[in-house]
Amino acid sequence: MSRKRVAVLISGRGSNMAALIDAAKDKTFPAEIVLVLSNRPDAGGLATASATGIATEVVEHTQYGKDRAAFEAALQAALVKHRIEIVCLAGFMRLLTAGFVDRWPERMINIHPALLPAFKGLDTHQRALDAGAKVHGATVHFVVPEMDAGPIIMQGVVAVSPDDNEQTLGQRVLAVEHRIYPQALKMLAEGRVRVIDGRCLIDGVPVSDAGTTAPPD
Ligand code: GAR
Repeated sequence: MSRKRVAVLISGRGSNMAALIDAAKDKTFPAEIVLVLSNRPDAGGLATASATGIATEVVEHTQYGKDRAAFEAALQAALVKHRIEIVCLAGFMRLLTAGFVDRWPERMINIHPALLPAFKGLDTHQRALDAGAKVHGATVHFVVPEMDAGPIIMQGVVAVSPDDNEQTLGQRVLAVEHRIYPQALKMLAEGRVRVIDGRCLIDGVPVSDAGTTAPPD
Protein backbone atom coordinates (compact mmCIF):
# COMPACT_ATOMS: atom_id res chain seq x y z
CA MET A 1 0.00 0.00 0.00
CA SER A 2 1.35 3.41 -0.89
CA ARG A 3 2.19 5.78 1.93
CA LYS A 4 -0.37 8.51 2.61
CA ARG A 5 0.70 12.02 1.65
CA VAL A 6 0.54 14.24 4.74
CA ALA A 7 0.70 18.00 5.27
CA VAL A 8 1.54 19.39 8.70
CA LEU A 9 0.12 22.83 9.46
CA ILE A 10 2.06 24.89 11.98
CA SER A 11 2.24 28.40 13.42
CA GLY A 12 5.32 28.18 15.62
CA ARG A 13 8.32 26.12 16.69
CA GLY A 14 6.98 22.86 15.26
CA SER A 15 8.18 20.32 17.80
CA ASN A 16 5.17 18.10 17.09
CA MET A 17 5.84 18.53 13.38
CA ALA A 18 9.42 17.38 14.02
CA ALA A 19 8.13 14.31 15.87
CA LEU A 20 5.93 13.42 12.90
CA ILE A 21 8.79 13.97 10.45
CA ASP A 22 11.05 11.79 12.58
CA ALA A 23 8.54 8.94 12.72
CA ALA A 24 7.88 9.15 8.98
CA LYS A 25 11.61 8.82 8.16
CA ASP A 26 11.08 5.11 8.66
CA LYS A 27 10.08 3.84 5.22
CA THR A 28 7.72 1.35 6.81
CA PHE A 29 5.72 4.20 8.39
CA PRO A 30 2.41 4.32 6.48
CA ALA A 31 2.53 8.09 5.91
CA GLU A 32 5.08 10.53 4.51
CA ILE A 33 5.27 14.22 5.39
CA VAL A 34 5.39 15.95 2.02
CA LEU A 35 4.43 19.49 3.02
CA VAL A 36 4.77 21.82 6.00
CA LEU A 37 2.46 24.79 5.74
CA SER A 38 2.54 27.80 8.05
CA ASN A 39 0.29 30.82 8.42
CA ARG A 40 3.29 32.74 9.79
CA PRO A 41 6.48 33.34 7.80
CA ASP A 42 8.52 33.46 11.04
CA ALA A 43 7.42 30.03 12.31
CA GLY A 44 10.52 28.26 13.59
CA GLY A 45 9.33 24.92 12.28
CA LEU A 46 9.71 26.05 8.66
CA ALA A 47 13.51 25.96 8.91
CA THR A 48 13.42 22.55 10.58
CA ALA A 49 11.26 21.20 7.77
CA SER A 50 13.40 22.74 5.02
CA ALA A 51 16.53 21.28 6.60
CA THR A 52 15.07 17.81 6.16
CA GLY A 53 14.20 18.51 2.53
CA ILE A 54 10.44 18.78 3.01
CA ALA A 55 8.53 21.32 0.92
CA THR A 56 7.28 24.33 2.85
CA GLU A 57 4.65 26.92 2.03
CA VAL A 58 3.47 30.02 3.84
CA VAL A 59 -0.10 31.25 3.58
CA GLU A 60 -0.06 34.40 5.65
CA HIS A 61 -3.44 35.01 7.24
CA THR A 62 -2.67 38.70 7.73
CA GLN A 63 -2.68 39.15 3.95
CA TYR A 64 -6.34 38.18 3.81
CA GLY A 65 -7.63 40.55 6.48
CA LYS A 66 -11.04 39.37 7.64
CA ASP A 67 -11.61 37.28 4.52
CA ARG A 68 -11.38 33.83 6.06
CA ALA A 69 -12.81 32.16 2.97
CA ALA A 70 -9.98 33.53 0.83
CA PHE A 71 -7.37 32.48 3.42
CA GLU A 72 -8.82 28.98 3.54
CA ALA A 73 -9.06 28.80 -0.26
CA ALA A 74 -5.31 29.50 -0.37
CA LEU A 75 -4.66 26.77 2.21
CA GLN A 76 -6.79 24.35 0.21
CA ALA A 77 -5.00 25.23 -3.02
CA ALA A 78 -1.63 24.44 -1.43
CA LEU A 79 -2.92 21.12 -0.12
CA VAL A 80 -4.37 20.18 -3.51
CA LYS A 81 -1.17 21.20 -5.29
CA HIS A 82 0.80 18.77 -3.13
CA ARG A 83 -1.84 16.03 -3.52
CA ILE A 84 -2.35 15.85 0.25
CA GLU A 85 -4.42 13.02 1.68
CA ILE A 86 -4.18 13.68 5.44
CA VAL A 87 -3.78 17.02 7.25
CA CYS A 88 -2.15 17.21 10.70
CA LEU A 89 -2.60 20.41 12.67
CA ALA A 90 0.40 20.83 14.97
CA GLY A 91 0.23 24.06 16.92
CA PHE A 92 -1.67 25.71 14.07
CA MET A 93 -3.23 28.65 15.84
CA ARG A 94 -5.96 29.72 13.41
CA LEU A 95 -9.57 28.67 13.76
CA LEU A 96 -10.83 26.93 10.64
CA THR A 97 -14.39 27.34 9.42
CA ALA A 98 -16.79 24.58 8.46
CA GLY A 99 -16.25 25.50 4.81
CA PHE A 100 -12.67 24.24 5.08
CA VAL A 101 -13.04 21.54 7.74
CA ASP A 102 -15.84 19.83 5.83
CA ARG A 103 -13.48 19.26 2.92
CA TRP A 104 -11.37 16.95 5.12
CA PRO A 105 -13.84 14.60 6.80
CA GLU A 106 -11.92 12.14 8.97
CA ARG A 107 -8.76 13.22 7.18
CA MET A 108 -7.72 16.16 9.37
CA ILE A 109 -6.42 15.65 12.90
CA ASN A 110 -5.17 17.92 15.67
CA ILE A 111 -3.14 17.61 18.84
CA HIS A 112 -4.36 19.48 21.90
CA PRO A 113 -2.37 19.84 25.13
CA ALA A 114 -5.08 18.62 27.52
CA LEU A 115 -7.33 15.66 28.12
CA LEU A 116 -10.33 16.75 26.07
CA PRO A 117 -13.10 17.55 26.63
CA ALA A 118 -11.44 19.25 29.63
CA PHE A 119 -9.49 22.45 29.05
CA LYS A 120 -10.31 23.38 25.50
CA GLY A 121 -8.62 26.54 24.27
CA LEU A 122 -5.44 28.16 25.54
CA ASP A 123 -3.33 28.07 28.75
CA THR A 124 -4.30 24.47 29.35
CA HIS A 125 -1.45 23.64 31.76
CA GLN A 126 -2.07 26.58 34.08
CA ARG A 127 -5.80 25.91 34.03
CA ALA A 128 -5.22 22.24 34.92
CA LEU A 129 -3.04 23.35 37.84
CA ASP A 130 -5.57 25.97 38.95
CA ALA A 131 -8.30 23.35 38.88
CA GLY A 132 -6.24 20.99 41.03
CA ALA A 133 -6.36 18.32 38.34
CA LYS A 134 -4.59 15.13 39.41
CA VAL A 135 -3.99 13.97 35.87
CA HIS A 136 -3.43 15.96 32.71
CA GLY A 137 -2.24 15.11 29.24
CA ALA A 138 -2.74 15.44 25.53
CA THR A 139 -5.34 14.41 22.97
CA VAL A 140 -5.22 13.61 19.26
CA HIS A 141 -8.65 14.11 17.71
CA PHE A 142 -10.37 14.56 14.39
CA VAL A 143 -11.02 18.19 13.53
CA VAL A 144 -14.62 19.34 13.34
CA PRO A 145 -15.88 22.91 12.98
CA GLU A 146 -16.25 23.33 16.75
CA MET A 147 -12.90 24.21 18.35
CA ASP A 148 -11.08 21.43 20.23
CA ALA A 149 -13.97 19.05 19.75
CA GLY A 150 -14.23 16.08 17.40
CA PRO A 151 -13.85 12.34 17.93
CA ILE A 152 -10.89 11.42 20.13
CA ILE A 153 -8.37 9.09 18.51
CA MET A 154 -5.75 8.82 21.26
CA GLN A 155 -4.89 10.34 24.62
CA GLY A 156 -1.79 10.26 26.77
CA VAL A 157 -1.81 10.94 30.49
CA VAL A 158 0.64 12.49 32.93
CA ALA A 159 0.25 12.62 36.70
CA VAL A 160 0.21 16.15 38.10
CA SER A 161 2.71 16.60 40.93
CA PRO A 162 2.18 19.08 43.78
CA ASP A 163 5.52 20.63 42.81
CA ASP A 164 4.52 21.25 39.20
CA ASN A 165 4.35 24.65 37.62
CA GLU A 166 3.12 25.52 34.14
CA GLN A 167 6.56 24.88 32.63
CA THR A 168 7.33 21.54 34.28
CA LEU A 169 3.86 20.19 33.59
CA GLY A 170 3.92 21.52 30.04
CA GLN A 171 7.25 19.83 29.34
CA ARG A 172 5.94 16.43 30.43
CA VAL A 173 2.76 16.87 28.40
CA LEU A 174 4.81 17.89 25.36
CA ALA A 175 6.84 14.69 25.63
CA VAL A 176 3.55 12.77 25.60
CA GLU A 177 2.38 14.76 22.57
CA HIS A 178 5.51 13.77 20.69
CA ARG A 179 4.80 10.12 21.48
CA ILE A 180 1.08 9.91 20.73
CA TYR A 181 0.84 12.10 17.62
CA PRO A 182 2.93 9.78 15.42
CA GLN A 183 1.10 6.75 16.83
CA ALA A 184 -2.28 8.28 16.02
CA LEU A 185 -1.21 9.28 12.51
CA LYS A 186 0.09 5.77 11.93
CA MET A 187 -3.26 4.23 12.86
CA LEU A 188 -5.17 6.70 10.72
CA ALA A 189 -2.89 6.18 7.72
CA GLU A 190 -3.29 2.41 8.07
CA GLY A 191 -7.05 2.89 7.77
CA ARG A 192 -7.68 1.48 11.23
CA VAL A 193 -9.70 4.42 12.59
CA ARG A 194 -13.45 4.70 12.02
CA VAL A 195 -15.94 7.16 13.51
CA ILE A 196 -19.28 5.72 14.57
CA ASP A 197 -21.81 7.95 16.35
CA GLY A 198 -19.14 10.56 17.04
CA ARG A 199 -16.71 8.11 18.65
CA CYS A 200 -13.58 6.52 17.25
CA LEU A 201 -13.25 2.81 16.85
CA ILE A 202 -9.82 1.34 16.28
CA ASP A 203 -9.87 -1.91 14.32
CA GLY A 204 -13.61 -1.92 14.91
CA VAL A 205 -13.50 -1.73 18.71
CA PRO A 206 -13.88 1.22 21.08
CA VAL A 207 -10.66 3.10 21.71
CA SER A 208 -10.56 2.32 25.41
CA ASP A 209 -10.54 -1.39 24.62
CA ALA A 210 -7.95 -1.15 21.88
CA GLY A 211 -4.94 -0.42 24.05
CA THR A 212 -4.42 2.94 22.39
CA THR A 213 -4.41 5.05 25.52
CA ALA A 214 -0.78 5.74 26.29
CA PRO A 215 0.09 4.62 29.82
CA PRO A 216 0.80 7.24 32.48
CA ASP A 217 4.42 8.41 32.71
C1 GAR B 1 1.61 22.06 21.31
O1 GAR B 1 1.67 21.90 22.70
C2 GAR B 1 0.20 21.81 20.81
O2 GAR B 1 -0.44 20.79 21.51
C3 GAR B 1 -0.45 23.13 21.05
O3 GAR B 1 0.52 24.08 20.68
C4 GAR B 1 1.82 23.54 20.92
C5 GAR B 1 2.61 23.67 19.65
O4 GAR B 1 3.93 23.29 19.89
N1 GAR B 1 -1.65 23.27 20.30
C6 GAR B 1 -2.70 23.94 20.72
O5 GAR B 1 -2.74 24.53 21.79
C7 GAR B 1 -3.87 23.95 19.76
N2 GAR B 1 -5.09 24.22 20.46
P1 GAR B 1 4.87 22.82 18.70
O6 GAR B 1 4.82 23.93 17.65
O7 GAR B 1 6.22 22.72 19.31
O8 GAR B 1 4.34 21.52 18.18
